[in-house]
Amino acid sequence: MDLSKFYITTPIYYVNAAPHLGHAYTNIACDVLSRFKKMTGDNVYFLTGTDEHGQKIKKAADEHGLSPKDFVDRISGNFRNLWDVLNVNFTDFIRTTEDRHIKAVRESLSRLHKNGDIYQSVYKGLYCTPCESFWDESQLVEGKCPDCGRKAEVIEEKNYFFKLSKYQDWLVDYLKENPGFVKPEIRYNEVTGFLKNNRLKDLCISRPKERLQWGVELPFDSGYVTYVWFDALMNYLSAVGFSSGKDKLSVFWPADIHCIGKDILRQHAVYWPIILKALGIALPKCIFAHGWWMIEKDDKTEKMSKSKGNAVSPLDLVEEFGRDAFRFFLLRETPFGADGKFSRKAFINRTNSDLANDWGNLVFRSLNMADKYFQGEVPFLGKDAFCEYRGILDSLPEKYTRSMKEMDFSSALESVWEVITAMNKSIETTKPWSLFKEKRTEDLSRFIYGLLESIRITGVYLYPFIPDTSLSVYRQLGISADFEKLNLLEEARFGRLKPGTKIKKDKPLFPRIEKC
Ligand code: MSP
Repeated sequence: MDLSKFYITTPIYYVNAAPHLGHAYTNIACDVLSRFKKMTGDNVYFLTGTDEHGQKIKKAADEHGLSPKDFVDRISGNFRNLWDVLNVNFTDFIRTTEDRHIKAVRESLSRLHKNGDIYQSVYKGLYCTPCESFWDESQLVEGKCPDCGRKAEVIEEKNYFFKLSKYQDWLVDYLKENPGFVKPEIRYNEVTGFLKNNRLKDLCISRPKERLQWGVELPFDSGYVTYVWFDALMNYLSAVGFSSGKDKLSVFWPADIHCIGKDILRQHAVYWPIILKALGIALPKCIFAHGWWMIEKDDKTEKMSKSKGNAVSPLDLVEEFGRDAFRFFLLRETPFGADGKFSRKAFINRTNSDLANDWGNLVFRSLNMADKYFQGEVPFLGKDAFCEYRGILDSLPEKYTRSMKEMDFSSALESVWEVITAMNKSIETTKPWSLFKEKRTEDLSRFIYGLLESIRITGVYLYPFIPDTSLSVYRQLGISADFEKLNLLEEARFGRLKPGTKIKKDKPLFPRIEKC
């Protein structure tokens, strides 16, 4: 089979603290897209990983009394473990402390240096000595460090710079010709607006070793390590074999989507394309920047942060409500490009209304009826299944596929819910229990077959979002499938469910949550 490739990446996460709901969001979204792409026949490479160098990490390691290496091993392991818990099925996990990455960073720096795109000069900036951080004037709070509140001093030091400014006009033209390079549109406008109103300064890409040793040493000056953002961005190339001469690079590069949060747009939509252009490497096809999850508390919305102590732990929610409910909530509640508001109440409401009532109940009732009226077997189809909602079901592939391709996950789920709602309604209007009483066996058979088959099809479309649940639906219908290998449209064809199949009714998929 001739597969087309699909290379999707998440940001690599700083390992200075435990993962929270915001981190889980990107990885779940990428997992959903990756599962969908596999079901539509693509050869998917799904990359995630951890960003392990730099001052922030060194400081966190010191605070824990650990060596940076021991510390990053531990926290990176926590991220890996979370992806298993959340059923995030990545292809590769890159750590910036791995050899394959360090080699790639050094090779790219050598090339840029050789080409004259890196030069040495004096860096002048506002520096907070206790925090060991440089700040822009605009970041200071009343002239003081925004982290510790102490006075920031002007210091000067020799550093290496990458010629961002040289490529500004090129990037402006590139963006004009490729409006799909940054999505959604609001983020495209943000980048083009920024480039219109500001002249880019060259990027300082080094830190002297007297201040920081925890980084990748510059290949052309052993007195310095690499600035963490230059180091980090290279992960997208190092994972697929840049510098190791592996074929993977020619198969998978350029990346199809770099999925990121809106706060790291400039690094991805300005620095990264310029670095690639200077290296003579093709640009990724799209940078998609999603919104942020905020915390809703006492009618107020606040940023989620470690220091505020309001960071939501994905592990706690999964333990309490299950991983499919968690995956579903994040992608159903808010359009992917917009900001979302998290509250326990919203989570419980969404789970109860959509998963327990609409979907779980539909499956439970339908299997119950098959049990009761047809001795636990898929009934005969008769001359044709009787489904009033067939028109809505038949329009699902087109609507769903269009939304998924745009990473419009909430709309994709809405289109599935149109079918689920219509099926529930049809049970109420058809009243299968009356058909049973009136012994209209053929009509009842056609109706129940239609329900079971439509449940199966809906389960196929829901698989990327709530994979455990779809597997359970299949099991309960007495069938099995390897969802990652099948063909979505073929599997979702009406009429594949064989009459006579023995169903295996189980507990409701999502019990109603009573507490708050
Ligand atoms: N290490 C860099 C990324 C380098 S990529 C080459 C970094 N790491 S991070 O751990 O601070 O953030 C990783 C991602 O988490 C970012 O995309 C950020 O937008 C996302 N989120 C952090 N908090 C978030 C929310 N509250 N909501 C949604 N996403 C959030 O930046």
